[in-house]
Amino acid sequence: MPYNPLDIFEIRDNALCISGKSIAELDYSGIKPPCYIYSKKIVAEKIKLLRDTLPKNIKIHYSIKANPFPALVSFITNYVDGLEVSSMAEMKIALATGIDSSSICLTGPGKSYEELEIAVKNNIVISAESSLELLRLDEIGTETMHKPSVLIRINPTYTQKRAGMKMASGSSQFGIDAEQIPELLNWVKDSCIDLHGFHVYSGSQILDAEAINFSQRKTIELVKQFTSEYNKPIKTINMGGGFGIPYFSKHTPLDLNSVGKNMQALSPTIETIRSEQPINTIVELGRYIVGEAGIYVCKIVDKKISRGKTYLITNGGMHHQLAASGNLGQRNRKNFPVYIANKINSPVTEVVNIVGKLCTPLDLLGDTLELSRAEVGDYIVILQSGAYGYSASPINFLSQPKANEYLM
Ligand SMILES: Cc1ncc(COP(=O)(O)O)c(C=O)c1O
Repeated sequence: MPYNPLDIFEIRDNALCISGKSIAELDYSGIKPPCYIYSKKIVAEKIKLLRDTLPKNIKIHYSIKANPFPALVSFITNYVDGLEVSSMAEMKIALATGIDSSSICLTGPGKSYEELEIAVKNNIVISAESSLELLRLDEIGTETMHKPSVLIRINPTYTQKRAGMKMASGSSQFGIDAEQIPELLNWVKDSCIDLHGFHVYSGSQILDAEAINFSQRKTIELVKQFTSEYNKPIKTINMGGGFGIPYFSKHTPLDLNSVGKNMQALSPTIETIRSEQPINTIVELGRYIVGEAGIYVCKIVDKKISRGKTYLITNGGMHHQLAASGNLGQRNRKNFPVYIANKINSPVTEVVNIVGKLCTPLDLLGDTLELSRAEVGDYIVILQSGAYGYSASPINFLSQPKANEYLM
């Protein structure tokens, strides 16, 4: 059966439903488009699938950057083992959930002194992305009398060819080049840094399981090598993630079973890595957990024909959902799964362009889409909008009204 992103939603009386209610019913009850709606049920199902498929000892961390909506982060915290944060604001959202701060990991280049200091004081684990960050952490540790808990993020030499976004190998702003690490490890031994272990993040939006498996095998090889050079026990291996979701009709979902089997096969090698307790082996995932659980909804406010093309003009746009407009790193613009929420199964009768309110031709939410006949007042829904949706969009562009966000 080909993948159909609608399959995880309830469809009733020709309408897409969330928590048993159609979008029109939600609108009447105060859930007002333009808005994002995140489904608790789908998030919980995605995490259950990960738990059921990956080895039991793998720790699942949620990457807040995928969707920092605080109510959603709090909900997810009930199901995962930790959180990955990349800014002061994300650190505050993570701390506010009440999760044990030692299961929060601060990653990302260019961390400020203040961010590092707050992380150290709160026992947050820091993934160091440069030798200067390590020096600063040693300084902060000495000043505050708090031993910084640190992972060294490795920039490996191998390439992750199949990632939608590559974030390792070659020359990179991410991580420390593998060849510089042996010398740094000697320095770390004499510092006040508590080296918990290593972190590799090779790329995002990977749908090819074998590409993920390859990265994970290479990561474990590198960690084994560096741990033996360090000659002291480690506690943590953060293997990254990059598990992708299908966005476009030609995408095939990730074979999670294959990833699970590969991780299982790596367990004996992980057990040979020097440590005093079972190693904390982490995958950090954002998009895989929340991407399919979020929809963006806007309402048609005008319909017109211009020189043979039909335009549905909505009260939303790319200032809310940049990724669906194709302007968030897509080389060739492709349509996200877009539907008329209140006419989901009606026969296809029209070819339309769906646009937003912004005064730019870039504000295109659907290009030459074949849909059922839509009218002013109908609801446009964009699926696969739960990750890198609202928080990755230029919400201040043209000073248009903001979108609402709801967790249901
Ligand atoms: C270090 C790190 N971890 C985790 C993620 C989350 O990626 P995704 O949402 O694709 O799972 C990213 C994304 O860029 C990242 O840079």
